[in-house]
Amino acid sequence: MARLVCISNRLPMEAGPAGGLVVALSAALAESGGTWVGWSGATAATPSPALAPIDGGPFGRLAFDLTEAEVAGYYMGYANSVLWPILHSRADLMRIAHDELAVYKAVNRRLARMVLDVIAADDLLWVHDFHLLPLAWELRALGARNRVGLFLHTPFAAPHDMAALPNAGEVAEWLACHDLVGLQTEADVARARASLAAVAAARPGAGGQVVIGRRATRIAAFPVAIDVGEFAALAGAEYRRLPPGLVRPDRALMIGVDRLDYTKGLPQRFRALAAFLEAHEDWQGHVSLLQIAPPTREGLAAYDAIRDETEALAGHINGRFADITWSPLRYIHRPVARERLAGLHRAARAALVTPLMDGMNLVAKEYVAAQDAADPGVLVLSQFAGAAEQMADALLVNPHDIEQVAGAIHVALSMPVRDRRRRHERLFAGLLARDVHWWSAAFLGTLRGPRPEPPPA
Ligand code: G6P
Repeated sequence: MARLVCISNRLPMEAGPAGGLVVALSAALAESGGTWVGWSGATAATPSPALAPIDGGPFGRLAFDLTEAEVAGYYMGYANSVLWPILHSRADLMRIAHDELAVYKAVNRRLARMVLDVIAADDLLWVHDFHLLPLAWELRALGARNRVGLFLHTPFAAPHDMAALPNAGEVAEWLACHDLVGLQTEADVARARASLAAVAAARPGAGGQVVIGRRATRIAAFPVAIDVGEFAALAGAEYRRLPPGLVRPDRALMIGVDRLDYTKGLPQRFRALAAFLEAHEDWQGHVSLLQIAPPTREGLAAYDAIRDETEALAGHINGRFADITWSPLRYIHRPVARERLAGLHRAARAALVTPLMDGMNLVAKEYVAAQDAADPGVLVLSQFAGAAEQMADALLVNPHDIEQVAGAIHVALSMPVRDRRRRHERLFAGLLARDVHWWSAAFLGTLRGPRPEPPPA
């Protein structure tokens, strides 16, 4: 079997929490004797010329460092100040700086050289996410003929947003260098086809391929998923370890877990909580939302602004509704261990997963996996999360419609157990049918299949 080499911006470090993606790819990597390549998270005074092995773990790991200027231009700059807002329909938050685009490309060029030094001709390369869009282009320029697949964890930009990129045509050319571009949903695939047609005259090729200039690629949906059994078992065990007093029959718990990002819709969610308490006074004192919102990309103006807005609203809502023994909102601006989150999900009567735009949102899936099937909680899910395409039995909401979300909170908290079980059963079956092992096998199976054929000269 060809060796698998995964390449992502962040290299999973053992000290950090084992996120969904790591769980997902561990098995596939370990099976093929594969390696994961990524940024160590550290900065160095000079650019690292070669990848450095990291000891331990079930699969090989090769790390590179970035200089401070590279972090500023590549990660904070083009990746998170241009691509991230554009991919999430927030062109208004984009900050274009052409020198940062140059740094983004230079980091990918350096990474391509370092990767080329460690791969064999038949290694299968799986690139992850928007930080590394030009990597395959750079590898091809250096002569690499390996199969290369890209999985984009974010949504794909609609034509209007894509056109706002300073280099939309170039991005299309980068994408065309992959044998396979995997996206989260069918809606993303449709947006990708329309956007690439608009900015780069992409045209349909044989067998659903997308042809851009002299190159062809495949674009298909592979909704990322979780290890359902693993998370369910974790939730069952951790539920019993929760601090006493957290679960009380007279006090329902609702949960939200999101990086503090402007795509997550936290201000809208908090306003919906306030509207719900306003409309249903009988629930005051009897329900609270535990919102866990760890910091991310701090120092970028858009992130500092969303933190200020979220914290001001949290204070405002607690000031308005809390009494001396109860507060409606517990807001935690720190990371919480994955194990603890699993237990909290099981304890929560409802989860509010209401992003304004999200590639998939694995919290929605983890919440469902964590429930007690005999007495499950209810998932309130944004119609703009990729997960909504697969989770029609959640309470689907428009996160911009505060009254509608407030109404869904009431429906969730009041839902009879028979209805909760029926919804949960279907959602859980959906998770089992397409779990994380299905996801990686489906992507890699397609990448190993027939290669796209360039158009005739
Ligand atoms: C999103 C992106 C990932 C990224 C994660 C955390 O899920 O799709 O690629 O790793 O956010 O963001 P950070 O900037 O901290 O890596």
